[in-house]
Amino acid sequence: MIIVLLGAPGAGKGTLAGAIKDQLGVHHISTGDLIRAEIKAGSVIGLEIKRYVESGGLVPDEVVTRMIEGKVKETAADKKGYMFDGFPRTSAQASDLDKVLAANGLVIDFALYMEASLNVVLQRLTGRRVCRKCGALYHLKNMPSRKEGVCDVCTGELYQRADDNEETIKKRIVVYNDQTKPIIDFYKLQEKLHTVNADTGAEDVRKALIQILNGKKS
Ligand code: AP5
Repeated sequence: MIIVLLGAPGAGKGTLAGAIKDQLGVHHISTGDLIRAEIKAGSVIGLEIKRYVESGGLVPDEVVTRMIEGKVKETAADKKGYMFDGFPRTSAQASDLDKVLAANGLVIDFALYMEASLNVVLQRLTGRRVCRKCGALYHLKNMPSRKEGVCDVCTGELYQRADDNEETIKKRIVVYNDQTKPIIDFYKLQEKLHTVNADTGAEDVRKALIQILNGKKS
C-alpha cells in the first residue's frame, strides 16, 4: 500500500504516521526527519539546507526528491509499501513522486488529507516537544510525557524544534498555503484524495484514517 499524508504543519502527520505504520507494515518516510538527520550529521547537504528549514522555507525540490528516490530504491524490493509524510510539498514534487514510484513499478493508492484549522495547528506546534534520542512526539498539554522533559519510551531528553517558534511557524503556514495546499487538487483529479477532520483527538483521527484505508468510508 502506498500512502501520501497531506496536511498543514502541526496537523498531526508525524503523530498519526507513528500510530498506524506498524499496523499497516509500511515504511514511514518523513522528509522532515530525513532533512533534520542530514543537518544533525553536519553533512555537506545538511549545511546547505539548514538555512531553508530555519527560515521556515522549503528545501529545493531536487534535493528532497533525490532523498526520496534513494530511500525508495533502497527498500522497493521488500514490497512493504510506503507512507510518505511531508512529501510531496510542491507540484513539482508530486509529479516527481509519481515518476520515482513508476520507475519501481509502483503507484500511489491513497492521498490522505488531514484537515486542521489554524488555531489548532498553532496550539499544537507551540506546545510540541520531541525526544532527542528516539524522535517520539509529545505535547505539553495534549500529550504530555509522564515525567516533564523526559521521553516515556527511551528516557531521552525532550526538546523544542528550532522551527517551532511563533515567527517561523507563521512563515511555514504561509509557505504551506502557497505551495503545498494546491497539490490537494492534484490528488483530487487522480481520485485518490480522502479528507479527515484532524482537529479532533489523535485516537479519533487514527480510527478515521484506518476506516478509509480499509475502504469503509471515503
Ligand atoms: P516537517 O518536519 O515535515 O514539518 P511540518 O510539515 O511543518 O510538519 P510538522 O512536523 O510540523 O507537523 P505534523 O503534521 O507532523 O504534526 P505532529 O504529528 O508533529 O518539515 C520541517 C521543515 O523541513 C519544513 O519547514 C521544510 O523546511 C523542510 N521540509 C520537509 N519536507 C520537505 C519537502 N518535502 N520539501 C521541501 N522542504 C521540506 O504534531 C504536532 C503536535 O501536535 C505534537 O506535539 C503532537 O503531540 C500534537 N498532536 C498531533 N496530533 C494531535 C491530535 N489529534 N490531538 C492533539 N494533539 C495532537
